[in-house]
Amino acid sequence: MRSLKEWHEKSVKIEEGLRYLHLLANDARLFTDNHPKFQDTLRVTHEFWSGLLSEMDAIEIKQIGQDLIYEDVPLGTSLKSTQEVSRSFQERGMESLVFTPGLTIQELTEYAHYMRLSEQHRSQVGSPSVYFVHRGVTHIQCYRLGDMRDDEARREAERQAKGLPVAMKDLSAFRCDALKTIQNLYLQAKVANVLDLDTAQGLVDVFLRESIMNSTTLLGLCAIRTSDEYTSTHSMNTCLLSLSLARYLGVPDDKLPMVGIACLFHDIGKMFIPDAILNKPGKLTPEEWGVMQSHTVLGARFLLSVPNIPTLAPLVAFEHHMNPEGTGYPCPKRDYKTNLISYAASVADFYDALSTARSYKKAISPEKVVDIMLKLEEGKMEPRLKRQFLRMVGTYPIGSVVRLDTGELAVVRRQNPEDSLRPCVQLVTAPDGTPLTQSVAAYLTETRDGGIFVRSVSEGVDPTEVQIDALGVLQEILDADRLQ
Ligand SMILES: [Fe+2]
Ligand SMILES: [Fe+2]
Repeated sequence: MRSLKEWHEKSVKIEEGLRYLHLLANDARLFTDNHPKFQDTLRVTHEFWSGLLSEMDAIEIKQIGQDLIYEDVPLGTSLKSTQEVSRSFQERGMESLVFTPGLTIQELTEYAHYMRLSEQHRSQVGSPSVYFVHRGVTHIQCYRLGDMRDDEARREAERQAKGLPVAMKDLSAFRCDALKTIQNLYLQAKVANVLDLDTAQGLVDVFLRESIMNSTTLLGLCAIRTSDEYTSTHSMNTCLLSLSLARYLGVPDDKLPMVGIACLFHDIGKMFIPDAILNKPGKLTPEEWGVMQSHTVLGARFLLSVPNIPTLAPLVAFEHHMNPEGTGYPCPKRDYKTNLISYAASVADFYDALSTARSYKKAISPEKVVDIMLKLEEGKMEPRLKRQFLRMVGTYPIGSVVRLDTGELAVVRRQNPEDSLRPCVQLVTAPDGTPLTQSVAAYLTETRDGGIFVRSVSEGVDPTEVQIDALGVLQEILDADRLQ
């Protein structure tokens, strides 16, 4: 147990650290990055915080009301800088800031950049945690206190603090952070009946920006099947797949943010369904099925109450289980015209729901899901959207693991629109199963003498069975692309 004297000594140092952060944020507003004054403040701030972090594992500062809290005790408010920092954290929704050893000058520069953004710019770049992850900041983490810091997020933060290779960082941190944000948004809806539209829009903006830079890798996030919380993973995947489909279909760029919001919250109504029904392992009774179906109406009703939300959002929540033959739910009146984006969300929703394991059902492999979709009766899915979607994800989606007829294992890195059975892959093992020290790209369209294919896919493989880190391989590709 720490004595009061020890706490006091530390709190004085932390207040000093806050004074440096305050100076840094101020200088960032007044000077350019390479101005000697800014560089000077940056250097002394970094020196001071590095010293602090060499004595402590991690320093968490919470912002509650007007106070800054360190180890559950409010810091003194006699210093103007502490008050100023508290106010600026409050304005930015930075309710908990965690500094960990290994903090770099570059990360403090990114911190300063974020602190100098105007309110309007902040709403464009998303929440501070999304911004930091996006900018590669791993030794400053920012949370809202309501965030569910689950074990995975904690482990990820620890892994990052230990300075694991860059190749594993961005995508997995990005995915982890996005899922945490979505989980939090859904939870807020459930417990407080409110929706933080700014945070949601910030997240969708990040999805869109990333997908412009690297659409294939972002789409690959959907193929990662780990045991994450279902609703947030399903919502993120449906959102990413629907956005890709909308872009593929030529929906104008200025309409994509509202498509993203609508698809992110298509299942928000499930927050109002009792857990006993939502997670029931067995078959639902007719009564329970009726309650489950009501998530469409409940979701639409909730979204209609959210100020400034695009009208597409309640519409997609209401319509995403409808189909062209009229056998979906809620049952539409004759001549009801379902929105095309609702049909797009329903295609993405169907694909993702089938591909994911639940407590009561196993995951179905991507090629089998494709087969099921191809064999669906006409009228169950909008045909043009289904066709385009299958062209987009291919038989073996980006990020999935395949075994080749040579015995090699590979991760799919790009679709081949000419032949979905012959994508571009990244080889990760030799034919005898030995892992390659560096993965290598291979085109499955490559032939040798006589036109025989050098490699073909034998089967899709569950990555956990062969212990392949598909996300890590996608990250390697992303890093290599960035270097070019
Ligand atoms: Fe649904
Ligand atoms: Fe859904």
